[in-house]
Amino acid sequence: MSFSETTRARAREIIARYPADRSRSALLPLLHLVQSEEGYVSPAGVEFCAEVLGLNKAQVGAVATFYTMYKRKPTGEYLVSVCTNTMCDVLGGQKVYDTLAEHLGVGHEETTADGKITLEHAECLAACDYGPVMTVNYDFFDNVEPQAALDVVEELRAGGRPMPTRGARLCTLKEMAVQLAGFADERDGAVADGGPGEPSLRGLRLAEQHGVSVPGFDPKTPIRSKAEADRAAAEEKAKAEAAKPAPEPAKAVEPAKPEAATGSTAPDVKAPDAKSPQVRTAETRQPDAGTAVPDAPGTKMPVDGPAPAPRDARAAEAAGAAANPPAGDGKPAGDAAGAQERNLKEAESGTGADGGDPADASGTGVRK
Ligand code: FES
Repeated sequence: MSFSETTRARAREIIARYPADRSRSALLPLLHLVQSEEGYVSPAGVEFCAEVLGLNKAQVGAVATFYTMYKRKPTGEYLVSVCTNTMCDVLGGQKVYDTLAEHLGVGHEETTADGKITLEHAECLAACDYGPVMTVNYDFFDNVEPQAALDVVEELRAGGRPMPTRGARLCTLKEMAVQLAGFADERDGAVADGGPGEPSLRGLRLAEQHGVSVPGFDPKTPIRSKAEADRAAAEEKAKAEAAKPAPEPAKAVEPAKPEAATGSTAPDVKAPDAKSPQVRTAETRQPDAGTAVPDAPGTKMPVDGPAPAPRDARAAEAAGAAANPPAGDGKPAGDAAGAQERNLKEAESGTGADGGDPADASGTGVRK
């Protein structure tokens, strides 16, 4: 399979959205992109993503098999997902699914013979307030009854495009995959077709009614680059350090006086620690020079001598990374130059990270 020049140009555009040393972050949109050409993430699609990002196929396969939106076998023009999770189920979701399965003659993740409809049952589609819900290529049909669901699939099979309850008008699964890869829906006015439903706006309405707003939030706040955010964080830290009061000289501790007898016969109760539990927990997790860790197993606290310097998070992270090389195949995680060449050589010699399992024809860790 050779991907089209359009797909290759889009892949370059996606990768260019990320910093040069973070290109593998482009993997999720790239998987949608290859799906937009083939209708699913094929072994060739996995190979394409691995090649353009300098990853190995096992790394791409691990991601592609984790998310249900990446399909592992050819999928129909319309993906009909019926929520059978708890909320929708009690409202009739399973009945909707069963009715469609019987009518179409397909089960979960199966496609009708005409290639039009792939049916799947889905876990919560994040629209519980409209249950039972069904989506077609991720566009919603709310409060759906079995007969209404049948009408939708029949219209799709007849070449029609029924309007979803809200959101943009329907497109094919391949067209939707282009949008999921981060490209605008180019159909004239498509995204203005439908607004959000009233239950989705309920929180907003209540906030308006009660005069609740996000304090000090300017909707025009620009999104900062990582370098700018790091610089701002460093400035904030420096300001906080400068504003700290100078430490008071240590006071001599007076020996405890024996308590006066109260005449009470009740057993002595130890006074509670004045610190809140949250403070104690935070101190135990992030001890500094002034906080002892009495019960952390294996902790070696200096008994005397100068107090240790406060931890430097970056230095600690670097030391941890150096002491803990990546698990698994031991190869660079992907962005290092030369990773692709090494992967190819290993694949040719059959000594890949996955052990060169000949039964794993896809190279994704899935035995055929
Ligand atoms: S349970 Fe169906 S959308 Fe949440």
